Amino acid sequence: MNNTSGRSLIPKNIEHLKPYVAGKTIAEVADIYKPEKIAKLASNENRLGCSPKVKGAIDEVFKEIQDYPDPVARKLRAAIAERNNVEDENVIIAAGSESIISMLCKTFFLNKENAITASATFVGFFVQIGVRGVHLKKIPVTDDYRYDIKAIVNAIDDQTKMVYIANPNNPTGTYITKDEFEWMMKEVPEDILVVMDEAYHEYTGNVEDYPQVLDYDYDNIITLRTFSKAYGLAGLRVGYGIAHKKVIRNMMKTKLTFEPTALGQAAALAAYNDQDHLRKSIEVVEKAKERLYEFFDEQDVDYVKSVSNSVMMVFPTEEEAINFNQKMLEKGVILRRINAFGLPNCIRITVGMPEEMQHFEDTFLEVTKN
Ligand SMILES: Cc1ncc(COP(=O)(O)O)c(C=O)c1O
Repeated sequence: MNNTSGRSLIPKNIEHLKPYVAGKTIAEVADIYKPEKIAKLASNENRLGCSPKVKGAIDEVFKEIQDYPDPVARKLRAAIAERNNVEDENVIIAAGSESIISMLCKTFFLNKENAITASATFVGFFVQIGVRGVHLKKIPVTDDYRYDIKAIVNAIDDQTKMVYIANPNNPTGTYITKDEFEWMMKEVPEDILVVMDEAYHEYTGNVEDYPQVLDYDYDNIITLRTFSKAYGLAGLRVGYGIAHKKVIRNMMKTKLTFEPTALGQAAALAAYNDQDHLRKSIEVVEKAKERLYEFFDEQDVDYVKSVSNSVMMVFPTEEEAINFNQKMLEKGVILRRINAFGLPNCIRITVGMPEEMQHFEDTFLEVTKN
């Protein structure tokens, strides 16, 4: 039939959207390049793996796998609420914090409203905002790759509905300080939702001026956390948000009813209750990060100090970043180009286990010699 309406089948915002391209998997790299060994240092996962307690918890729930999961993840929600001194109704749990970002985009925007974030931040936010067709103001990061909070606040207009801050930021590993956070919250009107995405919060324990957002009493903040990073459960997809009850209540209306899965809920609870394993995971990162800085200093590599579990290398040109990434990949070191995150001349390396980091160093020396 002829198209009489002049509309196109695919809406423009979806047609023009760049889809999220995930890092290569170990299986893909093994298949294509057949390297002797592989270090997957691309997606900021916990290379130590999850708590050993997770397996038993999953086995237990597996007995009831024919039943739908608890739609509000009551047990996990209660544990998260208790540890963070909030009420259960302040917590929403979903299939990863990316799902919560998607929910935020579905819930909070009317036509013509806009969101503001940094030019170099989590690409998942760019994607979900694009899916919703919301105008996004991307504010350039500072020369030292930090969120420019003043410029973000200056960019607010009467159509602004959301400010998104990843703290620590991915891919830069930098953070906004307590002073910056407090100043920002004084300036941002109450009808704008401030999304504080704390996917890497667990790694910031030693950072004195990192803001503890949950200690403040603002109705227009949502704090996002995840079990995908320090808790080592990326494959099970569990994340959560903490906010005012009114925010959570309305987000529940747009949440897919049965996310996250029953296995995810049980695994996350077991991991959450094993704080010893969490500490071990953080120690692995701290130690390896110190060594990585030393190595980069020895090799004269330009990099950005990080308070998360990844470090960003800065190359003079995009071409050099592409070449380096490709050569490393062929030798089994999977790194992450972060062009989609807004920094085409940078590469992100996840800080992993000693043997993986050694593989990185050896391969680095091999591919950069001469
Ligand atoms: C800042 C940030 N937020 C959210 C996510 C998504 O995490 P999840 O696995 O919980 O969806 C990531 C993952 O890379 C991230 O870096």
